[in-house]
Amino acid sequence: MLEFEIRHKDLMGRIGKLRTPHGSVETPTIMPVINPNLMSLKAADMKQYGAEMLITNAYIIYRKRNSREEAIKNGIHSLLRCEMPIMTDSGSYQLYEYKDVEVSNREILEFQQRIGSDVCVPLDIPTPPYANRERAEGDLDVTLRRMQEARSIIQDNPLAGVVQGSTFLDLRAESAKRVADIGFDVYAIGGVVPLLASYAFDKLVDIIVASKMNLPLNAPVHLFGAGHPMIFPLAVALGCDLFDSAAYALYAKGRRYITSDGTRKVDDLQYLPCSCPVCSSYSVKEVQEDVDLLAAHNLWVTFEEMRIVKQSIVERNLWELCERRCRAYPALLNGLKQMAKYSALIEKYDPATKHPFFYLGESSAHRPEVLRYSNRLDRFSLAGNVLITTNLKETDITEEEQFDHVFFVKPPFGPYPAELSESYPVGQAEIPAEVDDEAMTVALQNVLKLLELNRNRNVKFVFRYDSSWEGHPLIEEIRKYAEVKVMESN
Ligand code: GUN
Ligand code: ZN
Repeated sequence: MLEFEIRHKDLMGRIGKLRTPHGSVETPTIMPVINPNLMSLKAADMKQYGAEMLITNAYIIYRKRNSREEAIKNGIHSLLRCEMPIMTDSGSYQLYEYKDVEVSNREILEFQQRIGSDVCVPLDIPTPPYANRERAEGDLDVTLRRMQEARSIIQDNPLAGVVQGSTFLDLRAESAKRVADIGFDVYAIGGVVPLLASYAFDKLVDIIVASKMNLPLNAPVHLFGAGHPMIFPLAVALGCDLFDSAAYALYAKGRRYITSDGTRKVDDLQYLPCSCPVCSSYSVKEVQEDVDLLAAHNLWVTFEEMRIVKQSIVERNLWELCERRCRAYPALLNGLKQMAKYSALIEKYDPATKHPFFYLGESSAHRPEVLRYSNRLDRFSLAGNVLITTNLKETDITEEEQFDHVFFVKPPFGPYPAELSESYPVGQAEIPAEVDDEAMTVALQNVLKLLELNRNRNVKFVFRYDSSWEGHPLIEEIRKYAEVKVMESN
């Protein structure tokens, strides 16, 4: 087993240290894809961008006699002239894309072993999304047999187990379970490139979650083919640790300039909005005219975004980063909303104490912290007269009113005792002055929950709400359990 030590966590994301035969790598990280036949941006230069590990394609090296013989003689690190850890892919993707792979699982694995790969990959079958079930099951059968075979072939080198199953979540779950049972050093989620290309980020979220739930938590997980930085916050939040990027070069070839929130046609740019070494030393025209400069910029911003993701794990505000980034595209927002549906699950992995909660829009109403708060409403033991008010000022309670407990209502959390005004998360949550409907609904659901939890106790509830909340249907529900009064907005 490769040693993998987790150092910081936020949501299901983590910063980890992976020890490979060629040294340690800090995750999450991106492995630039090196094509040994092109090598326009050289493997040895990748370090300056922030790369700690590379990935190359064993099949492409194997296919050509020259590169095959050199790799066998001197090893993959010598061939790429680089001593960084190198993962080797098997040619599955070529199999998928061009159907021209003439090599067996055993052959390509033995080759990877001989050339000294730091992570070998078996010849899995990437089933495309929305394939029919029969095909997905058939492909998965073959893939799993090859995984089993790989485990018996590879003894000394680290080995990746690949999860397939197309868009069938039960097949993904089954696939993950089976590879976890076989036991690998790295687990890779495959067959998602077409989903990334079509911006089907909600489906991608489902697939990552179905796979992650059935993989060992203490092992690194690679998301195959996810090289565009706009997906990093979401994918890392769901527990992906390794990424590979051919995107930097492919986008450059397509004259695309990558930014953390999307892609621009480089020919449309009047200015370079970035301050990387390329964009701060060259003119727009020079970047437009030189595909290598464009690829270099793409690589700089790719690594920059991963550093931003890592810092937000340390600060424990990865959800906020996801919310900000996912506002860039409706398709990314679909991904975020899909992630919010898994809040209950994420909540289980999420460390309990955090930094201040910023409400950044509807998805914030379904954050794991909000769900955790709701799950703990049964911890308040109440008796006597209880005031629940949406007005957060105690001064509004008149002298003659005697309440045994006062709860303030802060959206999206709902009721919290005045004594917790300074405590995490409710007390410290920063919410906009104008409350949106989603936050109001979740807050009122939690008021209702507190009332219902105490309905058989000897408690008399008074619920006061600001007139700006008037007309919300849940207020009528609340009326069944409490004396309800509207207050004028101030
Ligand atoms: N590269 C992109 N997708 C895949 C995949 O599903 N399997 C392998 N082995 N490589 C990939
Ligand atoms: Zn730049």
